[in-house]
Amino acid sequence: MAELIVAFDLPSGREALALAARLPGLRWAKIGPVLYTREGPAIVREFVARGLRVFLDLKWHDIPSIVAEAVAAAAEQGVAMATVHTLGGPAMLTAASGAAGNVAVVGVTILTSHDTAEVEHVLGRGVPDLGFEAERLARLAVEARLRGVVASGRELALLRAALGADLWIVVPGIREPGDSTADQRRTVTAADAVRLGATHLVVGRHLTGAGDPAGVYQRLVDSL
Ligand code: C5P
Repeated sequence: MAELIVAFDLPSGREALALAARLPGLRWAKIGPVLYTREGPAIVREFVARGLRVFLDLKWHDIPSIVAEAVAAAAEQGVAMATVHTLGGPAMLTAASGAAGNVAVVGVTILTSHDTAEVEHVLGRGVPDLGFEAERLARLAVEARLRGVVASGRELALLRAALGADLWIVVPGIREPGDSTADQRRTVTAADAVRLGATHLVVGRHLTGAGDPAGVYQRLVDSL
């Protein structure tokens, strides 16, 4: 069964812990740059102490030795999963997986907020097929022995077919009918993400912005 990860992109640790307490059955908490920059490692320890698996999503992209040390620091804090950018390249990815210990390091392929036009603008060349680019980057993650990749629902089926059953594929940009896409471009419903081969779904504003987050959480779990 796919795992449901709640993205605690909230302005304070107090609000994040209050929301977590309202979600019975919660297993995974994603801590990103907003919460981590405000609260630091203490918020990781708080979640770990509550028995939750922490996904530290800081999307490291730096020289190999620095990323390796950051991954090792995450392992010391009891982090269960952490992200690096596959665009950091093979040496950086290999350094990250070498330092992983018990941390499942996963590589971001192309951000779900990017569409083709934006990627073309960034790269300064035509990109006929975003799926091809995502697959190319995902192969770097596999070659560097990362545990998995982060990809949008749009590339999911392609990556699952190309890279085999073992790889974790973490899918953010989950939206249900009627939701605002906000800054996301390549969104997918939870049910479709599971059908197409996601192992982990990241749900943020669909849940954190809802009046009844516990109800939304339960409906998502039921739909998995
Ligand atoms: O609120 P929403 O569901 O759009 O949040 C998506 C979460 O997933 C955010 O925490 C964002 O940092 C993260 N994410 C993403 N796209 C990626 C990798 C991570 O949206 N490629």
